[in-house]
Amino acid sequence: MSHGKNLIYYKTDAEIALMKQAALLVSKTLTEVAKVLKAGMTTMQIDTLCAAFIKDHKAIPSFYKYGGYPHNICASVNDVVVHGFPNETPLKEGDIVSIDIGVILNGWHGDHAYTFVIGDTSDEIKQLVRVTKESLYKGIEKAIINNRIGDVSFAIQEHTERKYGYGVVRELVGHGLGKSLHEDPQLPNYGMRGNGMKLKENLVLAIEPMINLGTKDVYTDKDGWTVRTKDGKPSVHFEHDVCVKRNKALILSDYSIIEEAEQANQNLTPSAPISF
Ligand code: MF3
Ligand code: CO
Repeated sequence: MSHGKNLIYYKTDAEIALMKQAALLVSKTLTEVAKVLKAGMTTMQIDTLCAAFIKDHKAIPSFYKYGGYPHNICASVNDVVVHGFPNETPLKEGDIVSIDIGVILNGWHGDHAYTFVIGDTSDEIKQLVRVTKESLYKGIEKAIINNRIGDVSFAIQEHTERKYGYGVVRELVGHGLGKSLHEDPQLPNYGMRGNGMKLKENLVLAIEPMINLGTKDVYTDKDGWTVRTKDGKPSVHFEHDVCVKRNKALILSDYSIIEEAEQANQNLTPSAPISF
């Protein structure tokens, strides 16, 4: 969708502080997931856990009923790129699952995602997960004033497609975030340096690379939501909420608490060697 003129909402510092609380609630919810995630668990159980945690913290799961979306979170397993429905299929060793969560807290949206590995997986999938996360940070590095949208897009594409030959999904993009879940501008994960809108201070962006191990091609299931890779190969999705600043972007969400819980949980899995 392209309008003649984009409507961009720059936030005040006070609003950024509120948005940080919303983003952090998502990070904390993902941390709760990281603590308990293991083979045998279903994504429906994760949905229930997340919705309860969000409501306990005086917020609303924002995806529920958004455009008719029928669940609280998106849980995208293996070849599902994004918008996977939580279901009753138990997760198994070697699966990857992107958990994407949105909340409204005090009127402001938080929207971010993290891809978890269940137990151990192949080296090629581990690399895809690592590189996709790295590409998110490469994009974030470019989210500073006087750069352009295309600088962020290019950095993500450069690190994934050009460097590793992965497929960068074209049909879905990152976006502005604020009082609405999806605000202008759109932020593709592919593009050219120096192209697109110039970034100004206190623009908040949800940057979300969706990167395929195989080709970039995707399709949507008959359910109207579930986006899958055409070749059936796995896809990884990471998302951060980021505020544009002068020298260094301010990341409103926080992966450190998720990663800490993920690490602690992995050390408990029976397959992991016991270290002294
Ligand atoms: N993070 C996704 C997005 O920004 C999740 C939206 S799912 C929906 O588009 F159900 F809310 F649409
Ligand atoms: Co998003």
